[in-house]
Amino acid sequence: MSRSAHPAGPRHADVLPEGHYSAPPADLNALDPKVWAHTVSRNADGALTVGGVDVGTLAEQHGTPAYILDEADFRERARAWRTAFGNDADVFYAGKAFLSRAVVRWLHEEGLNLDVCSGGELATALSAGMPADRIAFHGNNKSVDEIHRAIEAGVGRIVLDSFQEIVRVAHVAQSLGKRQRVQIRITVGVEAHTHEFIATAHEDQKFGIPLAGGQAAEAVRRALQLDGLELIGLHSHIGSQIFDMSGFEVAAHRVVGLLKDIRDEHGVELPEIDLGGGLGIAYTSDDDPREPHEIAKALTEIVTRECEGARLRTPRISVEPGRAIVGPTAFTLYEVGTIKPLDGLRTYVSVDGGMSDNIRTALYDAEYSVALVSRTSDAAPMLARVVGKHCESGDIVVKDAFLPSDLAPGDLIAVPATGAYCRSMASNYNHVLRPPVVAVREGESRVIVRRETEEDLLRLDVG
Ligand SMILES: Cc1ncc(COP(=O)(O)O)c(C=O)c1O
Repeated sequence: MSRSAHPAGPRHADVLPEGHYSAPPADLNALDPKVWAHTVSRNADGALTVGGVDVGTLAEQHGTPAYILDEADFRERARAWRTAFGNDADVFYAGKAFLSRAVVRWLHEEGLNLDVCSGGELATALSAGMPADRIAFHGNNKSVDEIHRAIEAGVGRIVLDSFQEIVRVAHVAQSLGKRQRVQIRITVGVEAHTHEFIATAHEDQKFGIPLAGGQAAEAVRRALQLDGLELIGLHSHIGSQIFDMSGFEVAAHRVVGLLKDIRDEHGVELPEIDLGGGLGIAYTSDDDPREPHEIAKALTEIVTRECEGARLRTPRISVEPGRAIVGPTAFTLYEVGTIKPLDGLRTYVSVDGGMSDNIRTALYDAEYSVALVSRTSDAAPMLARVVGKHCESGDIVVKDAFLPSDLAPGDLIAVPATGAYCRSMASNYNHVLRPPVVAVREGESRVIVRRETEEDLLRLDVG
């Protein structure tokens, strides 16, 4: 895809309306290291560079829109999680955040395990050489075929999500002459998002088996009776984009409470506890995520304290960060198209992608930042809304952000922190083609997931 030439766009000095934004930043050209991948900076001409490659070159070589992923940053973050938890714990990268064969190889090399939640993710992991015993298989409705493939491949654990699945997995394992290692996912009555957590009395959601009413204890009873299963532990996942550890305290307290009940009833101390993922990242300068070593220390202390209180041996801990590893490592590079100033409101800046490459703003009301990256500008800030090219008024990528008022069609802008849940949730809405993922490292770029083509679309449409 080549970059198009545009006539100069309109200029707009904004009157600031009521809205969801803070004051314009002091320097619109500054790149807050909190929200950008580690190797991002500006070169002498003011253009953004990442992994030693400037965005103009990336746009010329790979077109726009494109997800640009900093491989060194990905590896560094994966390693930081691995190091923080040490050899007495396991880090399972949550593949749902973003998975490709290159990513699987990086994870393998950096010593991480992998959590998959569909046959497709499992196939990707296996095809890129992730050892099956380092894979955990999740999901609230795994098909019998998926269960069969996972057990046959020898996955390290299956996380059981319902009473029916306990029987299903045991049955398939037995039919294959195997004993499958499993955890039971329990819902502990805690829901955590960003700075708050809510303790709920009951669990009104599709995942897991509720602790409430003794259901989780009954699931354990059944799993322990089935020859096809080796119950190795309990699993809990409480939310997403979490900064405050207090939700984990309540969750760990309740999970360890069940471990104690299991010991008292069955004389068995389950050896593992998985606290899931959900750790937050910075999407804007207002977010202050914790470092992996702080998280590891906090979670280990919580579990150890709870186990000491219950006179249990501390189980092996595992965690499943997805967003916290891949989220900050990528940005989406767009070319600016139509610019539409709405007097007294804001300026609508249309880009060549939109909700098909980033559904999170429409789906979760997510906040993002944005920057002009093909050059710097000394123009006054203008309040902008970055929107896509889809036939949908909710097609918003960045709700409110400041961009320079001399922004023009043909400029390149980038939305940072789009590594997680953007390409993996991308769609073909309006038959817009899904962008490539381009990995950059030490002055070179390479496509790790290619851009979709119209031929790809037509090949699926068999008439
Ligand atoms: C069971 C489980 N583990 C891990 C994750 C990863 O969460 P995050 O990417 O927010 O770390 C999820 C996300 O939905 C999940 O459901």
